[in-house]
Amino acid sequence: MSTTSPSLPGGTWPLGDLTVTRFGYGAMRLTGPGVWGPPADRDEALAVLRETGKLGITHIDTADVYGPRVANELIREALHPYGDSLLVATKVGAVRDERGGWPPAREPDQLRRQVDDNLKSLGLDRLDLVYLRLGNAEGPRAGSVARAFETLAELRKQGLIRHLGVSNATAEQVAEAQSIAPIVAVQNIYNLVHRHDDELIDRLAAENIAYVPFFPLGGFSPLQSEALSAVARRLNTTPISVALAWLLQRSPNILLIPGTSSVKHYGRTWPAPAFRSVTRTSPNWRRSAAKGDVPLVSTCLVEPVNDPRKPGPRRERAILTHLSRAVRRHVDAKQRPRRRQDGHGVGRGLHPRRHPRPW
Ligand SMILES: NC(=O)c1ccc[n+]([C@@H]2O[C@H](COP(=O)([O-])OP(=O)(O)OC[C@H]3O[C@@H](n4cnc5c(N)ncnc54)[C@H](OP(=O)(O)O)[C@@H]3O)[C@@H](O)[C@H]2O)c1
Repeated sequence: MSTTSPSLPGGTWPLGDLTVTRFGYGAMRLTGPGVWGPPADRDEALAVLRETGKLGITHIDTADVYGPRVANELIREALHPYGDSLLVATKVGAVRDERGGWPPAREPDQLRRQVDDNLKSLGLDRLDLVYLRLGNAEGPRAGSVARAFETLAELRKQGLIRHLGVSNATAEQVAEAQSIAPIVAVQNIYNLVHRHDDELIDRLAAENIAYVPFFPLGGFSPLQSEALSAVARRLNTTPISVALAWLLQRSPNILLIPGTSSVKHYGRTWPAPAFRSVTRTSPNWRRSAAKGDVPLVSTCLVEPVNDPRKPGPRRERAILTHLSRAVRRHVDAKQRPRRRQDGHGVGRGLHPRRHPRPW
């Protein structure tokens, strides 16, 4: 279905024997409120998914528990057959209860059933990437992952899973999983505010393992910061683009899976097809910036530092450095997040809205 677009911000990353665009899409938002039931506008949800194909995005993140089944079935309807280039990553380790909760379900028979459910709802014989989702809604919880991860490793041997990952995991759990079977990705909460995994990201980068931040835009507590807005204004872009650009330049192993349920938002958040022909050395970015061409600016800002072999114009790098420093300084020095009971970090000047946190 998808063809890889060389002009998506960030380029590509090898996930095992597959290559994906670092700019991906997270499908959790396609469901009804509380990640439960069908979307208010089904056609819009399908249109968002088809847009990912048009843009050449080759990494979509989902889970059978989104809906439940809703996100997977929409993906299937919009994009099946997926073709060789599109990787649909999913997760197991929890189910939904009648009140919409997310109780853990990591016993071997429960995991087998969830793998089976994902295969059915996505219409696949083999799942490309399955994360074992650990912890709970408050975040990672220490404890052995051996029994659960061994079950998934066995399903991988049986040919039902191509690649494995862990999600909402501590650094120790990542290491324990790696001692059982190879992993290609870790998916944890991380963004400009939640920086608890800085060390883990660097370790994984050294091992060529992807780090996939969930809630890249703050999730249910959208990132809001005067510093972020100021940087965005200065760059004539939006805080969302700055937040995503910052993640892309943070480390080459970071893959983005921002979520939206709206084609309009999608257009503002993601690069539009018109930008495909623009190369990182394009001199047009200033003109585009003047016109408020947000995704293009984001593309140009991000590309030069992602490929150290082909550094872009000095001016572009200088702006990116400024962006990174400004945001980092603000978050590090003034807004280091405090842990709250619901797992969200709060810093002065950042105003997350309270919501239950699913996964
Ligand atoms: N492993 C885990 O435990 C776990 C947990 C949570 C999520 N995830 C994965 O991570 C993915 C991303 O997380 P997420 O979608 O919850 O959070 P997110 O990407 O941080 O933020 C999504 C929010 O941003 C809004 N948004 C996006 N573009 C926008 C724009 N241009 N203007 C205004 N608002 C915009 C969306 O609203 P609209 O819909 O109105 O655009 C939505 O409310 C999920 O889809 C899921 O696949 C995994």
